[in-house]
Amino acid sequence: MNLIKGILCCGLVLSSQLIFGQQDPKMDRFIDDLMGKMTIEEKIGQLNLVTAGEATTGSVVSTDVEGKIKAGNIGGIFSMTTPARIRKAQELAVNQSRLKIPIIFGMDVIHGYKTIFPIPLGLAATWDMDLIQKTARVAAIEASADGLNWTFSPMVDISRDARWGRISEGSGEDTYLSARIAREMVVGYQGDDLKKYNTLMACVKHFALYGAAEAGRDYHTTDMSLHRMYNEYLPPYKAAIDAGAQSIMTSFNDINGVPASANSWLLTDLLRTDWKFNGLVVTDYTAVNELIDHGLGDLQQVSALSLKAGVDMDMVGEGFLTTLKKSLDEGKVSAAAIDRACRYVLEAKYKLGLFEDPFRYCNEDRAKKEIGKSEHLQLAREAATKSFVLLKNANQTLPLKKSGTVAVIGPLANTGANMPGTWSVSADLAKTASLVDGMRAALGNQVQIVTHLGANLTDDAALQERSTMFGRTIPRDDRPAETIIAEAVATANKADVIVAALGESSEMSGESSSRTDLNIPASQRRLLEALLKTGKPVVLVLFAGRPLTLTWENEHVPAILNVWFGGTETGKAVADVLFGDVNPSGKLPATFPQHVGQLPMYYSQKNTGRPLAEGAWFQKFRSNYLDVSNAPLYPFGYGLSYTTFDYSPITLDKQKITASDKLQVSVQLKNAGNYDGAEVVQLYIRDMVGSQTRPIKELKNFQKVFLKKGETKTLTFEVSNEDLKFYNQKLEHISEPGMFKVFVGGNSRDLKEADFELVN
Ligand code: BGC
Repeated sequence: MNLIKGILCCGLVLSSQLIFGQQDPKMDRFIDDLMGKMTIEEKIGQLNLVTAGEATTGSVVSTDVEGKIKAGNIGGIFSMTTPARIRKAQELAVNQSRLKIPIIFGMDVIHGYKTIFPIPLGLAATWDMDLIQKTARVAAIEASADGLNWTFSPMVDISRDARWGRISEGSGEDTYLSARIAREMVVGYQGDDLKKYNTLMACVKHFALYGAAEAGRDYHTTDMSLHRMYNEYLPPYKAAIDAGAQSIMTSFNDINGVPASANSWLLTDLLRTDWKFNGLVVTDYTAVNELIDHGLGDLQQVSALSLKAGVDMDMVGEGFLTTLKKSLDEGKVSAAAIDRACRYVLEAKYKLGLFEDPFRYCNEDRAKKEIGKSEHLQLAREAATKSFVLLKNANQTLPLKKSGTVAVIGPLANTGANMPGTWSVSADLAKTASLVDGMRAALGNQVQIVTHLGANLTDDAALQERSTMFGRTIPRDDRPAETIIAEAVATANKADVIVAALGESSEMSGESSSRTDLNIPASQRRLLEALLKTGKPVVLVLFAGRPLTLTWENEHVPAILNVWFGGTETGKAVADVLFGDVNPSGKLPATFPQHVGQLPMYYSQKNTGRPLAEGAWFQKFRSNYLDVSNAPLYPFGYGLSYTTFDYSPITLDKQKITASDKLQVSVQLKNAGNYDGAEVVQLYIRDMVGSQTRPIKELKNFQKVFLKKGETKTLTFEVSNEDLKFYNQKLEHISEPGMFKVFVGGNSRDLKEADFELVN
């Protein structure tokens, strides 16, 4: 059968039949047989993915879904939920369409389904791989219990420009960390057998390079050297595929002159031929149609281009449905190309077990029992506490004492709808506790909480409206700002401590939510100034979907806890950390700049030919700015704890290694403070001399370890030749003999270092 597939693809796909990998002969026979019965219209119908419009994730909404199902014109539906509704739609397909082909049901289950976990950037800040896998598993259990079998996740786009709102949806700036997380999420969703009733097919997105949009403006162009792509941006997609992800979504952006959704180099040469991907390729929302605006032709032309480039399924736009038959008749696409796409769609359904039992995922009983279970909420609370990053804690302001009165002030204090964070389309907003309610639930009557809005989210009402869409409203108070602040200060004066709940609303990040100003909005900054003037201890609980510029806050506020958007259990989790039941251990997965003008910013930069001298702020004719130093405000990997960790110097078991050796890198880590706590010990490597320029350091490993107060542990990492490899100008994955530095520490700036040599 593999040979037949190879023949089917001749002329379209450059490689042999091997591109389909070693598959299941039983599946091949089944699909051969089915496709033998299908008309060309029915095959094209399978390539059509529509939205049921229950959760709006784009501006075009599909019409006459019922009629199209009966006519065999739909392969998949997304954003339809509940076993009852899904069963009805599936019944139409398997009882009323000619060939009774079941439908696949998808949704954006990004960081939880009903039980919402922290936004992906927050989950990345946990650096806890088991936990991340568990969150994906729970998401799959809940979503599959509600009738779904496909999720448009993980999003693995590397982003180094915090202006881009979708940095919130990925794992941040680092290639290695993102690749590790991608793997865990795929395994969490798909489990060990996609046919099981409680799994979801993963969809890696957005292929590719979507996070490198110019100027951080969403949907903008990406133009990137192959060298950078291979070394820095592609590995997380590859990692997800290697972990077995069965589908991939093309991105909206242009890549070096050809948009991803029409890019045959990307979708065929790289994905199928080099990477041997044998799953389904789906476009992003109306991405085929958008090729018209990219300037590639009319709908018929762009649909043909996209199919030929390697797209199998067309999301929402119906360009495939309405034009491919005409293109076939006119000789503009081949029957083999349509067969190829149809086969991948049918294979996905087969792998999910839908041909055996189309109603496998429609179990009302499971929906009742498994969605929102207490274990799931417990995991959400744990994940949230672990995602929080303590950015500053002067004079041990934190943890707080569980007594007296706390004033929780700010526009994020009393909004449950903003706690889940962006891309939580299935969240029950009305049922999500606000920060204050969650804190009260966790603290009972040990602490009295008083609260006030304090300030509008932004002074500009129109900006606030754009930033609180999809029901994520925050009430506005139209009285003069000074009046609101005066009231808030009066409330704060009744308390022993002030918790300022400030930052972004959840829809200030996410899709189509790019920003040019990354300061806390001016309305909130004024409130913060007034709260600081009370002279009471102030803790800034910062809500953010991206790195913000906190230079002023870092200078003036004694304690800052960055809580991203923590999901369903945010309020309780904030109480756990503020009052010391949980010691914070999150570390930043993306650099926090001092100033927006430093973006794009990332730790793994190149040295340049004119680097600044170590410790220098400014030097003429060196690579720097006149007005802001090159340093980040908070470096990648940074995050404080209530305790402190001391690192010993590094010891190496040898000074020289060959390509077949393993280098043992050890440090002693001591919990030198007064609390038990966890530390993320990070290992970076620098290749000192090579045939081409290399980053000043790159993360290559990490361990998250828990130490009781006073405890010391020796940690050993193994460095192998694989860790020293990179893609050279010929895109060969090689290492080069020579000197290397290895660094170990608690963030990408404060590190111990040692030298070793790779010899032939
Ligand atoms: C987003 C995707 C999402 C899709 C379906 C698009 O607008 O870019 O990430 O999966 O909509 O909701």
